[in-house]
Amino acid sequence: MVYLVVINNKEKFFKFLKLRIDIILPNYYNMEKVNLAQKLTLFSEHWSPKIVGELNGQHVKLAKLKGEFVWHKHENEDELFYVIKGCLNIEFRDKTVVVNEHEFLIVPKGIEHRPVANEEVSVMLFEPATTVNTGNTENELTKYHLDNI
Ligand code: NI
Repeated sequence: MVYLVVINNKEKFFKFLKLRIDIILPNYYNMEKVNLAQKLTLFSEHWSPKIVGELNGQHVKLAKLKGEFVWHKHENEDELFYVIKGCLNIEFRDKTVVVNEHEFLIVPKGIEHRPVANEEVSVMLFEPATTVNTGNTENELTKYHLDNI
């Protein structure tokens, strides 16, 4: 493919160049590092994940958890819980896994689980963009739209 560019204006030329780069490398202009501690200051509600990154059809999310969530499973998605601050109990039907700070747990698709945070916990989640927080269970905690922060 050949592009004929008339460079009569520097600004126009760079705009043209940016458009081409956006098509080839859509994330090129988003190469900014993310500070998790800073992002965690931007919200306080519990059980309301925020999107802080996206790659390969996966979302990187931050959430603050407190209390008991609902039992649910994700039919098609594995779900990673990385504990940034606090201590998270992830209950399964036959056992409970205690995930401490700087530890993570991957919950395989199809496995029923219930996160329980006795004290507030900050977590990073890594899962496909299609993942709904309450999985196969729908209730007042279900979030279909997540904010980017
Ligand atoms: Ni889940």
